[in-house]
Amino acid sequence: MLRRLHADQPESFAFTPANLKWAEAQISKYPEGREASAIIPLLWRAQEQEGWLSRPAIEHVADMLGMAHIRALEVATFYFMFQLQPVGSVAHVQVCGTTTCMICGAEDLIAICREKIAPAPFRLSADGKFSWEEVECLGACTNAPMAQIGKDYYEDLTAERFAGILDELAAGKVPLPGPQNGRYGAEARGGPTTLKDGNEGAAEYNASVARAVALGDTLRRIDGSEVPLLAPWGDRGGRAAGVAVKEKPAKAPAARVKAKPATAKPAQAKAEPAAQAEPQRPQWLDGPRDGKPDDLKKIKGVGPKLEEVCHYLGFYHFDQIAAWTAAEIAWVDENLEGFKGRVTRDDWVGQAKALMAADAAPGN
Ligand code: FES
Repeated sequence: MLRRLHADQPESFAFTPANLKWAEAQISKYPEGREASAIIPLLWRAQEQEGWLSRPAIEHVADMLGMAHIRALEVATFYFMFQLQPVGSVAHVQVCGTTTCMICGAEDLIAICREKIAPAPFRLSADGKFSWEEVECLGACTNAPMAQIGKDYYEDLTAERFAGILDELAAGKVPLPGPQNGRYGAEARGGPTTLKDGNEGAAEYNASVARAVALGDTLRRIDGSEVPLLAPWGDRGGRAAGVAVKEKPAKAPAARVKAKPATAKPAQAKAEPAAQAEPQRPQWLDGPRDGKPDDLKKIKGVGPKLEEVCHYLGFYHFDQIAAWTAAEIAWVDENLEGFKGRVTRDDWVGQAKALMAADAAPGN
């Protein structure tokens, strides 16, 4: 099947701040020069955000990864998981039409799609809520015929049950996914014939269905409101082109008086300001005084990785931190890659002052 870009394209694309944060964390998984490895998750996230993949979205992702546009277009047009045209706002229905499903009734399911959604694939239903397509084997052949709707598989379908599922979806419900004929999973239709022992305490649903039930709505697209999937390893030096490129502080003393953040982040949304002040870079050191840094991990919320980031930025001592002004706090908060906002959140300045006072107390 020819997979072409949609004739009507939006003017531009940008990730939401939350999705951008997520995308940057994905990129940080890969070493320098290998950022293109993040292409699939980033394209997927763009599709989750918009519902489909537009040309501006594909090119935006390519720019984030330092790739030629054509390379990203090759990926987006190769994989069927990427929708190159607008799809139904509630669900895009993917009916498996490969051998097993075809033998077991896929053509009846497609007839239902034509009747209830649109006469041809990739057309929106009259209300814009649904679209459909026939896809190749989805790997659930033992539960044929089947269809993927949203993120779930609906298996062991009949035309009647499939029509009922579409009706329920149109009514705002999310029907229970999985086998629709009472099967638990992919056991024989008459019940398990092997491995029969130990199933007495089995859960009500198989794992996939149980997960869908727990989520309550598996049609919902990822919209950035979920817990951000930040990479715990944060910034390890491998960086994407155009993303969060932070310069090591220059050694030349003259370079130290820079008032504004030196970071160049053309593709990154502005982070939440930590304070109502124009960010200003605090004074930093090329190394700890006398070769002895303070143990910054004594500041609550600072672990080994964050301490490493502080050292990278030239902060080694409590007295440096204790002296930060609001403008300087704003700068540091903005530049703690992977830990933005921690200075304000954990009151580093107050903690640093308290630690200095404790060190100065008699007996210490
Ligand atoms: Fe339909 Fe494999 S043939 S899932």
